[in-house]
Amino acid sequence: MKDRSIVPTHRERLMREGDFIVSKTDTRGIITYGNPIFIEFSGYTEEELLGSQHNIIRHPDMPRAAFKLAWDTIQSGKEFFAYVKNMSKDGGFYWVFTHITPDFGPGGKIIGYYSVRRCPKRSAIEAIEPVYRQMLAAEKAAGPRDAIEAGTRVLTDLLNSTGMAYEQLVFSL
Ligand SMILES: Cc1cc2nc3c(=O)[nH]c(=O)nc-3n(C[C@H](O)[C@H](O)[C@H](O)COP(=O)(O)O)c2cc1C
Repeated sequence: MKDRSIVPTHRERLMREGDFIVSKTDTRGIITYGNPIFIEFSGYTEEELLGSQHNIIRHPDMPRAAFKLAWDTIQSGKEFFAYVKNMSKDGGFYWVFTHITPDFGPGGKIIGYYSVRRCPKRSAIEAIEPVYRQMLAAEKAAGPRDAIEAGTRVLTDLLNSTGMAYEQLVFSL
């Protein structure tokens, strides 16, 4: 269970070049595997991570619309890339560049998901952070029922103004 009482702090953990944070989930996003670096950065024990929803490391600065896009993409069988701010058990944070892919079973059925996170480019974080901030502000202003739609609109407007598809934008950062 996610502990919503954790207070976010300004303590940042930095991924090192060559670090790979790996996790696997079932189809509902319940963690079934985490590598030692995932355990290190999240601050949770393996026992705490396995069987928990992946939102256990969700940072409150992340807009809901970002995860909606992630789930829509992977549930449709496609891979998803994003810069994500995660929260450790002690309230600290760490930025990652994540790649999530569906895990296909016999017959092409999705049987789970797999994610690998690498050290993100600082310049990319600086570019995406204000976008997430705007999305989150729109979500808060819209209220819980319309939050995802409002956050998505901010992102869609940005994509329309740049003429880029989401993935193009991510790789342009
Ligand atoms: C394989 C996989 C990896 C994920 N990794 C993360 C992650 O690193 N951080 C995160 O906040 N959410 C991650 N998610 C998304 C979470 O399942 C969840 O949708 C998100 O944290 C938002 O939480 P909420 O659905 O409770 O709002 C991942 C999902 C999958 C399937």
